[in-house]
Amino acid sequence: MSHDNEISNKSSNTVFAEILNKRLSRRTVLAGGLATATTAFFGSMTSAQAFGDKGNVSRGSDHKHPLIDFIPVEVAEGNGPMPAISPDYQYQVIIPWGEPIEPSGPAFNYPPNAKDQAEQIGIGHDGMTYFPLKKGKFKRGGNKNGMLVINHEFGRNTHVLGKSDPDSLEDVRTSQHAHGVSVIKIVKRDGSWKTAGSKNTRRIHVNTPVAFSGPVEGHELLQTPNGNIALGTVNNCSNGKTPWGTYLTCEENFNGYFGANNTENLWNATEEQDRYGFSENGFGYGWHKFDRRFDLSDPDYKNEENRFGWVVEIDPFDATQKPVKRTAMGRFKHEGVAVTLGKDGRAVCYMGDDQRFDYIYKYVSAESADEMRKRGISPLDEGSLYVAKFNEDGSGDWLELTINNPLLQARFSDQAEVLTYARIAADLLGATPMDRPEWTTVAPNGDVYCTLTNNSKRTVTDAANPMAPNADGHIIKWRDTENHTGLEFQWDIFSVAKDTHGTEASYSDPDGLYADPDGRLFIQTDGGQKDGLNNQLLVADTNTGEIRRLFTGVTKDEITGLTMTPDRRTMFINIQHPGNGDPSLTNFPEPFDGTTIPRDCTIVITRKDGGIIGS
Ligand code: FEO
Ligand code: CA
Ligand code: CA
Ligand code: CA
Repeated sequence: MSHDNEISNKSSNTVFAEILNKRLSRRTVLAGGLATATTAFFGSMTSAQAFGDKGNVSRGSDHKHPLIDFIPVEVAEGNGPMPAISPDYQYQVIIPWGEPIEPSGPAFNYPPNAKDQAEQIGIGHDGMTYFPLKKGKFKRGGNKNGMLVINHEFGRNTHVLGKSDPDSLEDVRTSQHAHGVSVIKIVKRDGSWKTAGSKNTRRIHVNTPVAFSGPVEGHELLQTPNGNIALGTVNNCSNGKTPWGTYLTCEENFNGYFGANNTENLWNATEEQDRYGFSENGFGYGWHKFDRRFDLSDPDYKNEENRFGWVVEIDPFDATQKPVKRTAMGRFKHEGVAVTLGKDGRAVCYMGDDQRFDYIYKYVSAESADEMRKRGISPLDEGSLYVAKFNEDGSGDWLELTINNPLLQARFSDQAEVLTYARIAADLLGATPMDRPEWTTVAPNGDVYCTLTNNSKRTVTDAANPMAPNADGHIIKWRDTENHTGLEFQWDIFSVAKDTHGTEASYSDPDGLYADPDGRLFIQTDGGQKDGLNNQLLVADTNTGEIRRLFTGVTKDEITGLTMTPDRRTMFINIQHPGNGDPSLTNFPEPFDGTTIPRDCTIVITRKDGGIIGS
């Protein structure tokens, strides 16, 4: 299961949306207009025009050439058990699931055992960041030598263990060690990339000691009667990187790893557990059958589940530092986080909560990130958390999740509770339920984009979610007042996936998203594509709306994760769950043979002429 099929938001916000705002707005008219477009263009509303400026996006490359100039992968080529790439580009496969994180580590054997898996690349390759290493004054070295930090979101038992259910704690440990994060060193030698040894190489998984910081640190909601120390991170979906050189990994569908043995029939989900989707069987991983920590009905481990659902900061250059869960950023199903510096140098973080009818959030540090760091305070520990309300007229409001609000005071006793149950606080504030917010990205001109991947359960539209049901998703964008720190924004819809169907720009289920410094928007997909396509990577020109297909993956995979070298001439993306783990569909990265187990892996993409990626 790649996402949670349930609806956890039973608040009245969905009902409000149904009662209010039925009138046709400018927004829905725009969406309708787009529906008639038959070309690869989005219509005339570019980001620059929508916000009334001159579109003065800085272009790092050549003004004389169009932003996108490559020959696309044609619709007819983008299917089957092997990837396809633009004829102007080439790719190399690296770090498949099970490869040792150090060249000297244990080789992959299928199925893996728990001990080896803890020293091997995990499964479910997802968000990642390349951190360049520069030696002395050899500055270009950073383009061939770096730390790669990569999320391992999930792997089904059938894929990881070769069976549906674990039979032992050893099986559970193997599954747990396949999840988490890898920190590895990669270098380019003789034209190809490979792992290299480093004292900072490490695996972080479900049993790695972690620390908490921010308002919830030390709070009773994070303490268990057993007194067990805080361990691990799980369902690490997308990611972010901070201006101060650290990695942020985001815990998404953490609820699915918990279950309840409920031998004494005492466990019923609390209101809070229900809002976060905890259930007796979870997603079927069965960890709770052998590892008490994941048994919701075990009174010794009460509150263990509150230790998951956070943004976690990792230092890629110091393996002795524990991963730190930054509680000020709230607890929900964190898809990813886009970090930028706003007014007064404050850190601003945009975040999606990926579930049907859940919300988009923003965190703003209390002061300049630089100043806070000079005083030894993390900018991610002291600040304000907001949730988005999209109004029908194209304006929007950021509503603060603060215990000082009487609405929240009536429900919660302190700020720690507000943050731990951020979803419930957001319900009370009247946030806008969205069609599964996935990645966010900040463009240099100030536009923020967010993918809304789909929502098959929507029955009534609102202006920001204008399709019911929304089978194929859309991409929304907004611009905040006060250089990202303000409480208001103007928003618009950038792209509606179904409008591309039947054209050469066909895509569905947008998920991964990256705005480059020149005005390109990279779009990755996760879901059933139309027109016979596998999941894919596309590049949009945000000035013209044109979209071209750069890469397609393999049968039943997902394309996700995106990072580049500083010169933007090497890009890394991931093929996640090829064939959903079924070797009769694909054996990628091996050529098709019908039997070899397919393995999640990273794809290194370069232009054949050495040009900027996306051009
Ligand atoms: Fe892990 Fe919402 O994708
Ligand atoms: Ca996924
Ligand atoms: Ca995703
Ligand atoms: Ca997705």
